[in-house]
Amino acid sequence: MQINLSSDLSPETQQAKMRFGIVGNAPALIAAINRAIQVAPIDLSVLVTGESGTGKEFFPKIIHAYSPRKHSRYIAVNCGAIPEGTIDSELFGHEKGSFTGAVAARKGYFEEADGGTIFLDEVAELPLTTQARLLRVLETGEFLKVGSSTVQKTNIRIVAATNVNLLEAIARGQFREDLYYRLSTVQIHVPALRDRGNDILLLSRKFASDFSERYTMPPVTFDDAARSAMLHYRWPGNVRQLKNIVEQVALFDAGKTITAADMLPYLPEATMSYTPATARTSHSYESERELLFNMIFRLQAEIDLLKKNAAEQTASHTTLKCIPADTIEHPISTSLVKYTPEPMELMADTRKTHEVTLEDTEREAIRKALEDNGGKRKAAARQLKISERTLYRKIKEYGLE
Ligand SMILES: Nc1ncnc2c1ncn2[C@@H]1O[C@H](COP(=O)(O)OP(=O)(O)OP(=O)(O)O)[C@@H](O)[C@H]1O
Ligand SMILES: [Mg+2]
Repeated sequence: MQINLSSDLSPETQQAKMRFGIVGNAPALIAAINRAIQVAPIDLSVLVTGESGTGKEFFPKIIHAYSPRKHSRYIAVNCGAIPEGTIDSELFGHEKGSFTGAVAARKGYFEEADGGTIFLDEVAELPLTTQARLLRVLETGEFLKVGSSTVQKTNIRIVAATNVNLLEAIARGQFREDLYYRLSTVQIHVPALRDRGNDILLLSRKFASDFSERYTMPPVTFDDAARSAMLHYRWPGNVRQLKNIVEQVALFDAGKTITAADMLPYLPEATMSYTPATARTSHSYESERELLFNMIFRLQAEIDLLKKNAAEQTASHTTLKCIPADTIEHPISTSLVKYTPEPMELMADTRKTHEVTLEDTEREAIRKALEDNGGKRKAAARQLKISERTLYRKIKEYGLE
């Protein structure tokens, strides 16, 4: 269907942004919100696409809230978090005795949300058998409970989301092509954070102010170099990553003016965003771009550090501060500073990873993600851009429990 792709900020769009707390004015983001508002009253399935952490979860809520279904139920289902064995029963319900443990009949989400909207998040994670059941609901509004032969009817609007390229999943035989076309009557693409220009700064300010309020601490501000570094960084985890970093900075550096060097420890090296070692040897455009962004960011941080050192040096000349030689950790500094690796050393490090096996890298990435997220598997899976189900399997496989 033909939908206006305008990126105009109408009063209605402004109102939706306020209502859902969406920050940003990038034309591609505004066009995505406009599209959601426009398609909301028309009872079509919508597929929301975009990288992990871009804010896809706002869109099914906008669609529901601006549709005639707004007074009926809205149910969000994370398809990746439900074990394969129970997903059909969760979605479509089951009859008493239909499987071991089915001690009573149970309604599924498709029955519960009759008249309302179901948001199928991480839809690419649905097993093929469930995809067939879903296709039937979409085409006829009919479904069968697990263990039942009585056809039931439901009136549901479906909004699905994925950060996976479904056309590639179709090519791999993991996603039904007919379901893809049925689901994606209307597509809404949420842009990556790196493509939103100054929105990065608007979001960092908003998160800094939110967190300072939450922790009742003085807010942080960002100096020119930190802002420029943020604008150049690749943000593989998009808005979620920015929010997470600002939260840490807001907590540990409350009240400070943050420099690019201050931010460096919080930014995982671009090569650590989950890319298997074997894939890293291929000189794809994406990985080269990632390396380049990372180097620019680090150079920015080093310039920042040099400036700081120069200022300190000038100050120490006037006060004749004496520092013992064995406390000097960094060759470019005459005062004690934290050691920051040179870009060349970082590249050497990257080369080293080619000697380890893919399994080693994968195990280490999983271990680190679990550690970074305090053992929380949901958050770790997000960081790794894999489903929770896959993470559970890998944790078992590598004995990381
Ligand atoms: N434009 C925005 N303004 C304010 N907060 C935002 C914006 N975009 C995203 N966020 C915040 O970033 C976080 C991640 O967003 P969300 O959970 O919607 O990502 P997602 O696209 O669903 O990612 P995934 O594919 O990993 O599920 C949330 O806390 C969300 O509130
Ligand atoms: Mg999501």
